Amino acid sequence: MKPRVAVLCSGRGSNMTALITAARAPDYPAEIALVISDKPAAPALGFAAAEGIAAQAVPAAAFGRDRAAHERAIDAVFVAHGIEVVCLAGYMRILTPYLVGRWAGRMLNIHPSLLPKYPGLDTHARALAAGEAEHGCTVHLVTAVLDDGPILGQASVPVLPGDDEPTLAARVLAQEHILFPATLAAFVRQMHLPESTPTP
Ligand code: GAR
Repeated sequence: MKPRVAVLCSGRGSNMTALITAARAPDYPAEIALVISDKPAAPALGFAAAEGIAAQAVPAAAFGRDRAAHERAIDAVFVAHGIEVVCLAGYMRILTPYLVGRWAGRMLNIHPSLLPKYPGLDTHARALAAGEAEHGCTVHLVTAVLDDGPILGQASVPVLPGDDEPTLAARVLAQEHILFPATLAAFVRQMHLPESTPTP
């Protein structure tokens, strides 16, 4: 059986769509089994549901300032769906140590910069302002430090003369849609490698 993957997102959901589309291939090594958004109106939820994938909003508002309680509610849905790996695909909330700890080594995030450069927000504007010749995106394991953690894959794009934030963002996003499914596939394949081969 393929490992069951949950995607957590907040908005547009284009990376979630790329993951679902890639996972339709019979030889893709993971199943996208669940999509959760913290925003009930997220277009991502409609797309996932139309694909026959369990899709659920877990709004943060219901939990007030108790971020860990919100995350416990999300985690309960992960557990109910037998999830083994979590992908953060444009999930725009900073996680507490609770959820990071629960999914340590099994939670991937995509970030629109060549980490360790430009963690946080406004990555494209900051890369342009710094006069970078190269920019890109990173998939990494989630740790307690924001946009940190072991890097699993990166894709770079050139910054071209005349670029502005939207043109650069679009060039990076096209790479995100290739990088995330490819990195998730490589990740789950190595997850299921035999621990060791006994020697005679
Ligand atoms: C993507 O560019 C993703 O890398 C970024 O948000 C966008 C979500 O787009 N994530 C972050 O900035 C997280 N630090 P999408 O909803 O269309 O996938």
